[in-house]
Amino acid sequence: MFELRDVTRKFGSKTAVESVSFSIPTGQMVGVIGRSGAGKSTLLRMINRLTDLSSGSVFFDGNEVSKLKGEALRRWHRDCAMIFQQFNLVPRLDVLTNVMLGRLNHRSTALSILNIFSREERIMAIAALERLGIEQTALQPAGTLSGGQQQRVAIARALMQQPKVLLADEPIASLDPLNAKIVMDALRDINEREGITVITNLHTLDTARTYCERIIGMANGRVVFDGTPAELTSEAVNRIYGADGAIEESMTSTSIDIPSKAARAVSAPAPIILAGP
Ligand SMILES: Nc1ncnc2c1ncn2[C@@H]1O[C@H](COP(=O)(O)OP(=O)(O)OP(=O)(O)O)[C@@H](O)[C@H]1O
Ligand SMILES: [Mg+2]
Repeated sequence: MFELRDVTRKFGSKTAVESVSFSIPTGQMVGVIGRSGAGKSTLLRMINRLTDLSSGSVFFDGNEVSKLKGEALRRWHRDCAMIFQQFNLVPRLDVLTNVMLGRLNHRSTALSILNIFSREERIMAIAALERLGIEQTALQPAGTLSGGQQQRVAIARALMQQPKVLLADEPIASLDPLNAKIVMDALRDINEREGITVITNLHTLDTARTYCERIIGMANGRVVFDGTPAELTSEAVNRIYGADGAIEESMTSTSIDIPSKAARAVSAPAPIILAGP
Protein backbone atom coordinates (compact mmCIF):
# COMPACT_ATOMS: atom_id res chain seq x y z
CA MET A 1 0.00 0.00 0.00
CA PHE A 2 1.11 3.52 -0.87
CA GLU A 3 0.71 6.50 1.36
CA LEU A 4 1.55 10.05 0.34
CA ARG A 5 1.57 12.61 3.14
CA ASP A 6 1.64 16.30 2.33
CA VAL A 7 3.88 15.77 -0.66
CA THR A 8 5.16 19.07 -2.07
CA ARG A 9 7.65 19.90 -4.80
CA LYS A 10 8.83 23.39 -5.64
CA PHE A 11 10.97 24.47 -8.56
CA GLY A 12 12.25 27.90 -7.52
CA SER A 13 9.18 30.00 -6.83
CA LYS A 14 6.93 27.57 -8.79
CA THR A 15 5.06 24.96 -6.74
CA ALA A 16 4.58 21.99 -9.09
CA VAL A 17 2.91 19.72 -6.52
CA GLU A 18 1.35 21.08 -3.36
CA SER A 19 0.38 19.19 -0.19
CA VAL A 20 -0.79 16.03 -1.92
CA SER A 21 -1.99 13.29 0.43
CA PHE A 22 -3.68 10.01 -0.48
CA SER A 23 -3.23 6.29 -0.06
CA ILE A 24 -3.49 3.52 -2.65
CA PRO A 25 -4.19 -0.07 -1.63
CA THR A 26 -2.10 -2.78 -3.27
CA GLY A 27 -3.47 -3.91 -6.63
CA GLN A 28 -5.41 -0.79 -7.58
CA MET A 29 -5.30 0.65 -11.12
CA VAL A 30 -5.25 4.41 -10.75
CA GLY A 31 -5.41 7.08 -13.45
CA VAL A 32 -4.06 10.57 -12.81
CA ILE A 33 -5.58 13.27 -15.01
CA GLY A 34 -5.25 17.01 -15.30
CA ARG A 35 -4.22 19.81 -17.64
CA SER A 36 -0.71 20.21 -18.94
CA GLY A 37 1.41 21.56 -16.08
CA ALA A 38 -0.95 20.29 -13.36
CA GLY A 39 1.90 18.35 -11.73
CA LYS A 40 1.14 14.79 -12.88
CA SER A 41 4.65 13.89 -14.05
CA THR A 42 6.28 15.52 -11.04
CA LEU A 43 4.03 13.47 -8.76
CA LEU A 44 4.98 10.16 -10.43
CA ARG A 45 8.66 11.11 -10.50
CA MET A 46 8.61 11.78 -6.77
CA ILE A 47 6.99 8.40 -6.09
CA ASN A 48 9.69 6.71 -8.18
CA ARG A 49 12.38 9.00 -6.67
CA LEU A 50 13.52 10.36 -9.99
CA THR A 51 12.73 13.73 -8.39
CA ASP A 52 13.25 14.58 -4.72
CA LEU A 53 10.45 15.94 -2.59
CA SER A 54 10.66 19.48 -1.24
CA SER A 55 8.64 18.35 1.78
CA GLY A 56 6.28 15.59 2.87
CA SER A 57 6.77 11.84 2.63
CA VAL A 58 5.95 8.80 0.52
CA PHE A 59 5.51 5.40 2.18
CA PHE A 60 5.26 2.02 0.50
CA ASP A 61 4.35 -0.99 2.64
CA GLY A 62 5.44 0.91 5.73
CA ASN A 63 8.86 2.00 4.38
CA GLU A 64 9.56 5.67 3.82
CA VAL A 65 10.49 5.68 0.14
CA SER A 66 11.25 9.40 0.21
CA LYS A 67 14.17 8.79 2.63
CA LEU A 68 15.83 5.86 0.85
CA LYS A 69 19.50 6.09 -0.11
CA GLY A 70 22.17 3.90 -1.71
CA GLU A 71 21.35 0.19 -1.94
CA ALA A 72 17.83 0.68 -0.55
CA LEU A 73 17.09 3.30 -3.21
CA ARG A 74 18.42 0.93 -5.88
CA ARG A 75 16.02 -1.74 -4.60
CA TRP A 76 13.18 0.76 -4.82
CA HIS A 77 14.01 1.53 -8.44
CA ARG A 78 13.73 -2.20 -9.07
CA ASP A 79 10.41 -2.57 -7.20
CA CYS A 80 8.89 0.55 -8.75
CA ALA A 81 9.12 0.25 -12.55
CA MET A 82 8.31 3.22 -14.74
CA ILE A 83 7.40 3.62 -18.39
CA PHE A 84 7.39 6.90 -20.29
CA GLN A 85 5.65 8.55 -23.23
CA GLN A 86 8.88 8.42 -25.24
CA PHE A 87 9.64 4.75 -24.32
CA ASN A 88 13.28 5.44 -23.21
CA LEU A 89 14.78 2.42 -24.96
CA VAL A 90 18.35 2.21 -26.26
CA PRO A 91 17.57 2.51 -30.01
CA ARG A 92 20.72 0.86 -31.41
CA LEU A 93 20.49 -2.18 -29.10
CA ASP A 94 18.29 -5.10 -30.12
CA VAL A 95 14.90 -5.56 -28.51
CA LEU A 96 15.94 -8.60 -26.46
CA THR A 97 18.88 -6.75 -24.90
CA ASN A 98 16.67 -3.76 -24.15
CA VAL A 99 14.26 -6.05 -22.31
CA MET A 100 17.06 -7.77 -20.40
CA LEU A 101 18.32 -4.37 -19.24
CA GLY A 102 15.31 -4.52 -16.92
CA ARG A 103 17.33 -7.04 -14.88
CA LEU A 104 20.16 -4.61 -14.18
CA ASN A 105 19.01 -3.77 -10.68
CA HIS A 106 18.83 -7.46 -9.86
CA ARG A 107 22.46 -8.25 -10.59
CA SER A 108 26.03 -7.41 -9.67
CA THR A 109 27.70 -4.38 -11.23
CA ALA A 110 30.42 -6.53 -12.83
CA LEU A 111 27.92 -8.68 -14.73
CA SER A 112 26.00 -5.57 -15.73
CA ILE A 113 29.08 -3.84 -17.13
CA LEU A 114 29.93 -6.92 -19.16
CA ASN A 115 26.33 -7.17 -20.38
CA ILE A 116 26.27 -10.88 -19.58
CA PHE A 117 22.82 -12.31 -19.23
CA SER A 118 21.99 -15.82 -18.09
CA ARG A 119 20.00 -18.37 -20.08
CA GLU A 120 17.17 -17.95 -17.57
CA GLU A 121 17.14 -14.21 -18.15
CA ARG A 122 16.98 -14.70 -21.91
CA ILE A 123 14.08 -17.14 -21.55
CA MET A 124 12.32 -14.71 -19.23
CA ALA A 125 12.83 -11.84 -21.71
CA ILE A 126 11.44 -13.88 -24.61
CA ALA A 127 8.43 -14.88 -22.48
CA ALA A 128 7.82 -11.21 -21.69
CA LEU A 129 8.01 -10.33 -25.41
CA GLU A 130 5.64 -13.19 -26.24
CA ARG A 131 3.20 -11.93 -23.66
CA LEU A 132 3.20 -8.55 -25.38
CA GLY A 133 2.89 -10.20 -28.81
CA ILE A 134 6.20 -8.87 -30.20
CA GLU A 135 8.59 -11.82 -29.84
CA GLN A 136 9.26 -11.69 -33.59
CA THR A 137 11.05 -8.34 -33.11
CA ALA A 138 13.56 -9.75 -30.57
CA LEU A 139 16.66 -9.33 -32.75
CA GLN A 140 15.77 -6.00 -34.38
CA PRO A 141 17.34 -2.75 -33.16
CA ALA A 142 14.71 -1.20 -30.87
CA GLY A 143 14.89 2.08 -32.80
CA THR A 144 13.48 0.43 -35.93
CA LEU A 145 10.17 -0.52 -34.27
CA SER A 146 6.92 1.43 -34.45
CA GLY A 147 5.91 3.53 -31.46
CA GLY A 148 3.35 0.98 -30.30
CA GLN A 149 5.90 -1.83 -30.52
CA GLN A 150 8.50 0.23 -28.66
CA GLN A 151 6.10 0.91 -25.82
CA ARG A 152 5.41 -2.82 -25.59
CA VAL A 153 9.17 -3.42 -25.37
CA ALA A 154 9.30 -0.87 -22.55
CA ILE A 155 6.52 -2.76 -20.74
CA ALA A 156 8.38 -6.06 -21.25
CA ARG A 157 11.51 -4.43 -19.81
CA ALA A 158 9.48 -3.24 -16.82
CA LEU A 159 8.11 -6.78 -16.30
CA MET A 160 11.70 -8.10 -16.20
CA GLN A 161 12.18 -6.04 -13.05
CA GLN A 162 9.44 -8.12 -11.40
CA PRO A 163 8.17 -4.88 -9.90
CA LYS A 164 5.67 -4.40 -7.09
CA VAL A 165 4.41 -1.19 -8.67
CA LEU A 166 4.21 0.03 -12.25
CA LEU A 167 4.14 3.76 -12.95
CA ALA A 168 3.31 5.01 -16.43
CA ASP A 169 3.70 8.65 -17.49
CA GLU A 170 1.40 9.25 -20.49
CA PRO A 171 2.12 5.79 -21.93
CA ILE A 172 -0.20 6.24 -24.91
CA ALA A 173 0.14 9.95 -25.68
CA SER A 174 2.33 9.29 -28.77
CA LEU A 175 0.35 6.32 -30.08
CA ASP A 176 -2.47 5.83 -32.56
CA PRO A 177 -5.77 4.51 -31.16
CA LEU A 178 -5.12 0.84 -31.97
CA ASN A 179 -1.68 0.82 -30.36
CA ALA A 180 -3.03 2.86 -27.47
CA LYS A 181 -5.59 0.14 -26.84
CA ILE A 182 -2.97 -2.63 -27.04
CA VAL A 183 -0.76 -0.82 -24.52
CA MET A 184 -3.61 -0.03 -22.10
CA ASP A 185 -4.88 -3.62 -22.36
CA ALA A 186 -1.36 -4.82 -21.47
CA LEU A 187 -1.24 -2.55 -18.41
CA ARG A 188 -4.66 -3.77 -17.31
CA ASP A 189 -3.61 -7.39 -17.84
CA ILE A 190 -0.53 -6.90 -15.65
CA ASN A 191 -2.66 -5.21 -13.00
CA GLU A 192 -5.32 -7.92 -13.00
CA ARG A 193 -3.13 -10.99 -13.42
CA GLU A 194 -0.15 -10.13 -11.21
CA GLY A 195 -2.04 -7.84 -8.83
CA ILE A 196 0.59 -5.14 -9.40
CA THR A 197 -0.48 -1.61 -8.47
CA VAL A 198 -0.56 0.55 -11.62
CA ILE A 199 -0.54 4.35 -11.48
CA THR A 200 -0.76 6.00 -14.87
CA ASN A 201 -0.95 9.61 -16.00
CA LEU A 202 -3.42 9.98 -18.83
CA HIS A 203 -4.43 12.78 -21.15
CA THR A 204 -7.75 11.29 -22.10
CA LEU A 205 -10.74 11.17 -19.84
CA ASP A 206 -12.35 8.28 -21.66
CA THR A 207 -9.22 6.14 -21.28
CA ALA A 208 -9.13 6.86 -17.55
CA ARG A 209 -12.82 6.03 -17.24
CA THR A 210 -12.47 2.79 -19.18
CA TYR A 211 -9.36 1.36 -17.59
CA CYS A 212 -9.02 2.82 -14.10
CA GLU A 213 -11.06 1.87 -11.07
CA ARG A 214 -9.93 5.09 -9.42
CA ILE A 215 -9.22 8.50 -10.91
CA ILE A 216 -7.19 11.24 -9.26
CA GLY A 217 -7.69 14.67 -10.80
CA MET A 218 -5.03 17.35 -10.37
CA ALA A 219 -5.15 21.09 -10.99
CA ASN A 220 -2.35 23.56 -10.17
CA GLY A 221 -0.39 20.95 -8.22
CA ARG A 222 -3.27 19.92 -5.98
CA VAL A 223 -5.63 16.96 -5.94
CA VAL A 224 -9.08 18.32 -6.79
CA PHE A 225 -10.82 14.99 -7.41
CA ASP A 226 -10.31 11.46 -6.08
CA GLY A 227 -12.97 8.90 -6.83
CA THR A 228 -14.42 6.28 -9.15
CA PRO A 229 -15.24 6.91 -12.81
CA ALA A 230 -18.93 7.00 -11.85
CA GLU A 231 -18.21 9.82 -9.41
CA LEU A 232 -16.42 11.85 -12.07
CA THR A 233 -19.32 14.14 -12.88
CA SER A 234 -19.17 17.07 -15.30
CA GLU A 235 -18.83 19.34 -12.26
CA ALA A 236 -15.74 17.35 -11.18
CA VAL A 237 -14.38 17.47 -14.72
CA ASN A 238 -14.73 21.26 -14.67
CA ARG A 239 -12.85 21.38 -11.36
CA ILE A 240 -9.98 19.43 -12.94
CA TYR A 241 -9.79 21.02 -16.38
CA GLY A 242 -11.39 24.39 -15.67
CA ALA A 243 -14.80 25.51 -16.89
CA ASP A 244 -13.45 27.93 -19.49
CA GLY A 245 -13.17 25.51 -22.40
CA ALA A 246 -15.65 23.02 -23.79
CA ILE A 247 -14.52 19.68 -22.36
CA GLU A 248 -15.35 16.56 -24.25
CA GLU A 249 -14.82 13.01 -23.10
CA SER A 250 -12.63 12.25 -26.09
CA MET A 251 -10.50 15.38 -25.75
CA THR A 252 -6.72 15.42 -26.24
CA SER A 253 -4.37 13.22 -28.14
CA THR A 254 -5.77 9.72 -28.22
CA SER A 255 -9.23 8.38 -27.78
CA ILE A 256 -9.85 4.66 -27.52
CA ASP A 257 -13.04 3.08 -28.70
CA ILE A 258 -13.41 -0.17 -26.82
CA PRO A 259 -16.30 -2.29 -25.59
CA SER A 260 -17.49 -2.11 -21.99
CA LYS A 261 -16.30 -4.59 -19.37
CA ALA A 262 -19.45 -6.69 -19.79
CA ALA A 263 -18.95 -6.96 -23.54
CA ARG A 264 -15.32 -7.93 -22.99
CA ALA A 265 -16.34 -10.77 -20.66
CA VAL A 266 -18.27 -12.40 -23.49
CA SER A 267 -15.36 -12.37 -25.92
CA ALA A 268 -12.40 -12.53 -23.52
CA PRO A 269 -9.18 -13.71 -25.22
CA ALA A 270 -7.27 -16.71 -23.95
CA PRO A 271 -5.04 -15.79 -20.98
CA ILE A 272 -1.34 -15.29 -21.62
CA ILE A 273 0.87 -16.50 -18.80
CA LEU A 274 4.28 -14.96 -18.15
CA ALA A 275 6.92 -17.53 -17.24
CA GLY A 276 8.35 -17.04 -13.77
CA PRO A 277 12.03 -16.26 -13.09
N1 LIG B 1 12.64 20.35 -13.72
C1 LIG B 1 11.80 21.38 -13.66
N2 LIG B 1 12.24 22.64 -13.50
C2 LIG B 1 11.40 23.68 -13.40
N3 LIG B 1 10.05 23.57 -13.45
C3 LIG B 1 9.54 22.34 -13.60
C4 LIG B 1 10.37 21.18 -13.72
N4 LIG B 1 9.57 20.09 -13.86
C5 LIG B 1 8.31 20.56 -13.85
N5 LIG B 1 8.28 21.89 -13.70
C6 LIG B 1 7.07 22.73 -13.63
O1 LIG B 1 6.17 22.15 -12.72
C7 LIG B 1 4.83 22.21 -13.20
C8 LIG B 1 4.25 20.81 -13.29
O2 LIG B 1 4.92 20.12 -14.32
P1 LIG B 1 4.60 18.59 -14.69
O3 LIG B 1 5.55 18.21 -15.75
O4 LIG B 1 4.59 17.80 -13.45
O5 LIG B 1 3.12 18.72 -15.27
P2 LIG B 1 2.23 17.64 -16.03
O6 LIG B 1 0.91 17.63 -15.36
O7 LIG B 1 2.97 16.37 -16.12
O8 LIG B 1 2.05 18.30 -17.48
P3 LIG B 1 1.96 17.58 -18.95
O9 LIG B 1 0.54 17.11 -19.08
O10 LIG B 1 2.28 18.69 -19.89
O11 LIG B 1 2.95 16.47 -18.98
C9 LIG B 1 4.90 22.95 -14.53
O12 LIG B 1 4.63 24.31 -14.30
C10 LIG B 1 6.33 22.76 -14.95
O13 LIG B 1 6.77 23.81 -15.77
MG1 LIG C 1 3.66 15.23 -17.70
